[in-house]
Amino acid sequence: MARISVTVDGVQYVDDVQPRTLLVHYLREQLGKVGTVVGCDTSNCGACTVLMTDPDGDAHGVKSCTVLAMQADGRSVTTIEGLASPDGALHPMQRAFHEQHALQCGFCTPGMIMAAVDLLQDIPDPTEEQVRKGLEGNLCRCTGYQNIVRAVIAAAGAQRGAPSASEPESEPEAAPEAAPAAERAEPAVTA
Ligand code: FES
Ligand code: FES
Repeated sequence: MARISVTVDGVQYVDDVQPRTLLVHYLREQLGKVGTVVGCDTSNCGACTVLMTDPDGDAHGVKSCTVLAMQADGRSVTTIEGLASPDGALHPMQRAFHEQHALQCGFCTPGMIMAAVDLLQDIPDPTEEQVRKGLEGNLCRCTGYQNIVRAVIAAAGAQRGAPSASEPESEPEAAPEAAPAAERAEPAVTA
């Protein structure tokens, strides 16, 4: 066993772990951070993505199924459960996923959001192509990518202080036109 000291979602933990314990299993099984999920265990899906600081204190997205818990010793880790403010206010990326209908299943969404947060740290104003490239390590097996890309672009705008960017693109609502009388009332078909 090895003793590690790691800050997770703002709380410091000192724990004994097996040298082979993966960070994702430490988070889920020892700390109960089950918002971080295992989607593949082969480093393909990105479902396990969290932010972890490097020796300089800068946070980067990592696939926690490819990191040993021991490697998190002395580092800070942020999971999907620590992304919102302590008062419960959603992170701009969480809000954008909600507003742009980008929330998919519980497997892909946490990692997708964490990877997107990491992406905007590096590229605050990404193009759609850059978003797609930046998230290529995160899989949604249901191909729900379009709204995810929209959400990331919207979150980028919100973080830069452009609130309109978080609004869904839509035409101005036209006043409803009265239908001609003949079209208005279809008689109900009864058996
Ligand atoms: Fe880590 Fe799939 S569980 S990449
Ligand atoms: Fe999560 Fe497709 S894998 S919605």
